[in-house]
Amino acid sequence: MKNKERRPLSKGRPDAGSSRPSRTAGPAKPAHRSEAPVRKEAPARKDAPARVQAKPQQQASQAAPVETRPLWPRSGDLPAERVPVILESSGAGDFHLIDTGRGLKLEQYGDYRIVRPEAQALWQPTLPDHVWEKASAVFTGDTDEDGMGRWRFPAEALGETWPLSLLGVDFLGRFTAFRHVGVFPEQIVHWEWMKARVEEAKAQGRTLKVLNLFGYTGVASLVAAAAGAEVTHVDASKKAIGWARENQAMSRLEKAPIRWICEDAMKFILREERRGNHYDIILTDPPKFGRGPNGEVWHLFDHLPLMLDVCRQLLSPNAVGLVLTAYSIRASFYSIHELMRETMRGAGGVVESGELVIREAGLDGKTRGRALSTSLFSRWVPA
Ligand SMILES: C[S@@+](CC[C@H](N)C(=O)[O-])C[C@H]1O[C@@H](n2cnc3c(N)ncnc32)[C@H](O)[C@@H]1O
Repeated sequence: MKNKERRPLSKGRPDAGSSRPSRTAGPAKPAHRSEAPVRKEAPARKDAPARVQAKPQQQASQAAPVETRPLWPRSGDLPAERVPVILESSGAGDFHLIDTGRGLKLEQYGDYRIVRPEAQALWQPTLPDHVWEKASAVFTGDTDEDGMGRWRFPAEALGETWPLSLLGVDFLGRFTAFRHVGVFPEQIVHWEWMKARVEEAKAQGRTLKVLNLFGYTGVASLVAAAAGAEVTHVDASKKAIGWARENQAMSRLEKAPIRWICEDAMKFILREERRGNHYDIILTDPPKFGRGPNGEVWHLFDHLPLMLDVCRQLLSPNAVGLVLTAYSIRASFYSIHELMRETMRGAGGVVESGELVIREAGLDGKTRGRALSTSLFSRWVPA
């Protein structure tokens, strides 16, 4: 990757702190600090490309000071573009989408059939009611993405977790209070792409370094590690990191080179930038709102430009990709597409952006049905 930029713009960004409440931070709580084994601080490189300013604590008294820095001015040509790109999955391993409709989706996760709210499903279900009524678990509650609610088990009470497998990685499905089940299967398309790149590099004797930001239960980190990458996984939630470590054990990848880091994602990447560390693939899957372990506020619309700017600095000279996914935001994929292209100005390559969709596959997992849009994505690749 060519780096044509010179020095950061002199003006700081608008205030990165916010007292807006987090609905999507998942299980993150402000109380915890970091998970072992977090490596010791290395001294900052003298030639670190950007100055980082610690902002005074001026917002919510419990929040940690928000670090920020000016954006780098980018010059050179915009990367080529490919739009719109619809990355479609029809399931993999133990997962497929059975049916959707009437504001709901019916999914197969291993032995369980699960019904969850799905605001995009404006149409009527294909399958008859009696099929839906036989679901193992139904989430009832807030219809907002990430809203709180509770699980109902129509046939028999189920435990909190159950075994699942995807792309050769074993992990636990989980009934969480935020309607999620411990995995976001629409991400399979990104994980397949990443796995292929890691394996190709491995075949040529190169071990890729993967950074997984907002990594949740670690399925992407495990897929990368199983394919032969060195992985750094960052999440603000101690609980999620605990789940990810359980998944690591389930996948028999205890010896794989994965650093589990419980920290605010922005804080972590700014420190990595100061240290001069680099990664070959960066996945970033930020929520709309979130909080770091010390109350650091993440607000996608305020902080994404800086996050991508720092991620660019973290890309290695022969980086393989920078992948962004954005959920439940009121924006077109063009918003993140043009931001990605501006951020990657002068780096060559191509930015492809669009939507991640899951295709209904019926009860048998093979009957092609309607496409369900799940999120926006933008991906820079070197060619
Ligand atoms: C949408 S999930 C990510 C899903 C994951 N990429 C996957 O595909 O499995 C959002 C995650 O972001 C984490 N999070 C929220 N705010 C954060 C912050 N400021 N820094 C780091 N992680 C944060 C939450 O704990 C949660 O695990």
